Amino acid sequence: MQNDKLRIAIQKSGRLSEKCLALLCRSGIQFDIRKDRLFYKARNQPVELMLVRDDDIPEYVRDGVCHLGIVGLNELAEKIGVSENHDAAPVSIVRRLGFGYCRLALAWPKQRPFEGMQSFANTKIATSYPNILSRFLREEGITAQPVEISGSVEVAPTIGVADAICDLVSTGATLQTNGLQEVRTLLESEAVLVRPKKLFTVEQDKFIRKILARIYGVLKAQTSK
Ligand code: PRP
Ligand code: ZN
Repeated sequence: MQNDKLRIAIQKSGRLSEKCLALLCRSGIQFDIRKDRLFYKARNQPVELMLVRDDDIPEYVRDGVCHLGIVGLNELAEKIGVSENHDAAPVSIVRRLGFGYCRLALAWPKQRPFEGMQSFANTKIATSYPNILSRFLREEGITAQPVEISGSVEVAPTIGVADAICDLVSTGATLQTNGLQEVRTLLESEAVLVRPKKLFTVEQDKFIRKILARIYGVLKAQTSK
C-alpha cells in the first residue's frame, strides 16, 4: 500500500456508482472521471479512487489494497462472510450508508405450483451468490444444487439452466418481467463503508479519520433534511 495516498475503492458501474461518487464529491474530494480507467487521483486531496467491479471490493479491502471501500452488504457477505462486525472479521463495517437498498431473495417461476420451502428440494437454483445460498440451504436442511451464474440470473429458469433463482431484488421489476415470484428473503442489503482491520501508520490513520469525519458530515446533513 502506498504511504502517501488514501485509496478508496468503489463500484465502477452499477447501482452504487453514482451515489458513491456523489457522496465523495460532497465530502470535498474532487475527481475528473473519464471512461475506462481504474485509478483517478483527486484534484484537491491526497486521495486515489479505484473504480472496480463491486465483487472485487471485499477482497481489496481485506487485503489492504485500499484503505476504504464502499460496497453492498450482499457482496461483503458473499465474498468474505461478513454481514455485521465481529472480532475475527478481516474487514470492519465503518458505517451503513443508507442507499443501495436491496435484498437477496429466492424466486420461483409463477407458472409452477409453490408449496413452501420443500418445493426447493432437489432443484437447481441459479445464483451469483453461491456461498450465501449454500449456507442458507444447509441451515434450512434443504438439498438443492446452486448453479453459479455471473449475470442475467433471472433468465435461468426460462432457458432451462435451473428451476429457480436466488438473486438481488430492488424494485421487483426484473422478477416480474421474467415471470418469477419472490418467496423468501436471505439477506437485507445496503451500501456500507468498509475498511481493513489491519492498522495503518499514525499519519494514514489521522487522514482516514479526517475523511471519515467529512463523509459523516454529509450523511448527517442528508438525514436531517
Ligand atoms: C440486480 C439483479 C437484478 C436486478 C434486480 O442486478 O441481478 O438483475 O438488480 O433489480 P429490480 O428488482 O429493481 O429489477 P444489478 O443491477 O445489481 O447488477 P449486478 O448483479 O451485475 O451487480
Ligand atoms: Zn456485481
